Amino acid sequence: MTSDGLSFPIFNQSCSSLLCRHLTVQLFEQLKDRVTENGFTLAKVINSGVVNQDSGVGVYAGDAASYDLFSPLFDPIIADYHGFSKTDKHRSDLSLEKLSAPDPDPDGNFILSTRIRVGRNVANIPLGPALTKEQRNSVEAQVSRALQNLTGKLAGTYYPLSGMEETVRRQLIADHFLFKAGDRFLDAAGLNRDWPEGRGIFHNRDKTFLVWVNEEDQLRIISMQQGGDIEAVFSRLINAVKEIEKSVTFMFDPRLGYLTSCPTNLGTAMRASVHIRLPKLGNDMETFKKITDAAHLQIRGIDGEHSETKSDIFDISNKRRLGVTEVDCVQDMYNGVAALIKREKEL
Ligand code: ARG
Repeated sequence: MTSDGLSFPIFNQSCSSLLCRHLTVQLFEQLKDRVTENGFTLAKVINSGVVNQDSGVGVYAGDAASYDLFSPLFDPIIADYHGFSKTDKHRSDLSLEKLSAPDPDPDGNFILSTRIRVGRNVANIPLGPALTKEQRNSVEAQVSRALQNLTGKLAGTYYPLSGMEETVRRQLIADHFLFKAGDRFLDAAGLNRDWPEGRGIFHNRDKTFLVWVNEEDQLRIISMQQGGDIEAVFSRLINAVKEIEKSVTFMFDPRLGYLTSCPTNLGTAMRASVHIRLPKLGNDMETFKKITDAAHLQIRGIDGEHSETKSDIFDISNKRRLGVTEVDCVQDMYNGVAALIKREKEL
């Protein structure tokens, strides 16, 4: 049993998470009494995957130290998910000129919108799962101040969740900007404590630049627009990250890159996606999957993570995030989307 009262968890027959595949009794015994300086324990690392047995991964980190202290569990999970070994080193590269991604759909027949986001957390404090209420509020204060100082095309407004006016809330929902409350994976990871205090959303006037504050990560920096101009979206994102970095220092690890609460986002913490209408490929999922697998892409429904597609519109995004650069992530997305459009036209 751990110091906080956890015995080796029981996993369902049907459980196939990386947690249940990698947590052995021996590993449990080895890690059960460890605790980081912010009070993060093995019980907390694995709680989301124990409570939600349909998890794909099932673990979260509470602070930078979690990735070290619990590395005998995190490292095999990271290796399995990202194909990133213990001796690999992550490298960041946010340079627009290395990307070659001319609009793959200039006539606007397939791509509805393009979105690129990165996750970021503030250096020298815990990640969301171990943040105290005071620390979370101070992150909100620091980040919202930095955002409100942005100028030009990035200038906009910060909307705190607590005390949000009904008209504002409705508009943010209509724009699909609001992050959902009560997600059970985040809940069990400790990421919904003190909800909704300390959380909020910023967006610029054009609604092409958005920041979520204190959701799964302290910052989710998002650039998006209608259509398929991937370079424009990447360029705006790079610019926004640079501007925010002038007043906020992000948590970065020399081996794992940008640290995030969920190990799936480590490294670039980047998800580059399009919403794309593919009626013909949608009826031939085998060919569809062959193309996306080859380009290291993931297919999702358009109603966010854990959603399924009920129409002929798909959300296509990069799968690799760690051990590849940001340029690689966006290039993967472009290459795959260009191949999908080419095939859709042939069918
Ligand atoms: N913890 C969830 C699972 O294991 C989500 C993992 C990836 N998604 C995320 N938003 N971090 O299925």
